[in-house]
Amino acid sequence: MTARVIVVTSGKGGVGKTTATANLAAALANMGKRVVAVDGDVGLRNLDVIMGLENRIVYTLIDALEGTCRLNQTFIRDKRIENLFMIPTAQSRTKDAVTAEQMIEVCGELRKEFDYVLIDSPAGIEAGFRNSAAGADEALVVTTPEVSAVRDADRIIGLLESMDKSPIRLIVNRIRPHMVKKGDMLGVSDVLDILAIDLIGMVPDDEAVVTSSNKGEPLVLSQSTPAGIAFRNIASRIEGKDVPFMNLDATDSGGLFGIIRRAILGH
Ligand SMILES: Nc1ncnc2c1ncn2[C@@H]1O[C@H](COP(=O)(O)OP(=O)(O)O)[C@@H](O)[C@H]1O
Ligand SMILES: [Mg+2]
Repeated sequence: MTARVIVVTSGKGGVGKTTATANLAAALANMGKRVVAVDGDVGLRNLDVIMGLENRIVYTLIDALEGTCRLNQTFIRDKRIENLFMIPTAQSRTKDAVTAEQMIEVCGELRKEFDYVLIDSPAGIEAGFRNSAAGADEALVVTTPEVSAVRDADRIIGLLESMDKSPIRLIVNRIRPHMVKKGDMLGVSDVLDILAIDLIGMVPDDEAVVTSSNKGEPLVLSQSTPAGIAFRNIASRIEGKDVPFMNLDATDSGGLFGIIRRAILGH
């Protein structure tokens, strides 16, 4: 096996990276792929909770790096989905606990055993982002359709390009179509015009995300909610399938766009 190693990142925090990592990992595993989701967000670890695996942590990635255990002893196998694994990180350490060289080495090891390695990373302007992304080939950039998030995404895309990640593809998360229609929120095409990278999916704002996170049960497993379907579609597109984009009726916000574009790009 030679895994594709994909970092899930963003410019701004709180836009849905961990949610996306958990759901895409579950969806890809459901499609029969052998997947490991790595928590690369040292100190703010969340992936274990969102995946509902927090009670099963014995060793973390940091333990493996410090030689306390072997890397495969950190694997937590998901009992609900075959072929789905998670590697937790430590909560009580700072972001410099993992170096870029260590991440490259870890990803090298994981490549041999999996089809996909998905890395949940800290937001891009935080320390530790570069390290967590160091071992990845590809990047998924998550943004919400908010001016500050899009502006920060613009910065992080530049960084990822300088790190030679390819492809770098965009997930626009938490879209509220009725707000876009009223011109109160950026539409997806507005965001794409500004960021000029390929879109891999749009995910609606969906209360089911909150319930599923609290229950530790990835959405793609249980329900056909709008966000669950959106994440499944993204997983299929990662696999190279040509899945039409959802019609969120939210592609264009009309007049708002010109104003926002100037605010973000300065022209
Ligand atoms: N599509 C969505 N609909 C509704 N809530 C969402 C959606 N995506 C993320 N959230 C919520 O937003 C918050 C931040 O998500 P999270 O994945 O932890 O972001 P990050 O990892 O980027 O900090 C969480 O409370 C999560 O439940
Ligand atoms: Mg997170």
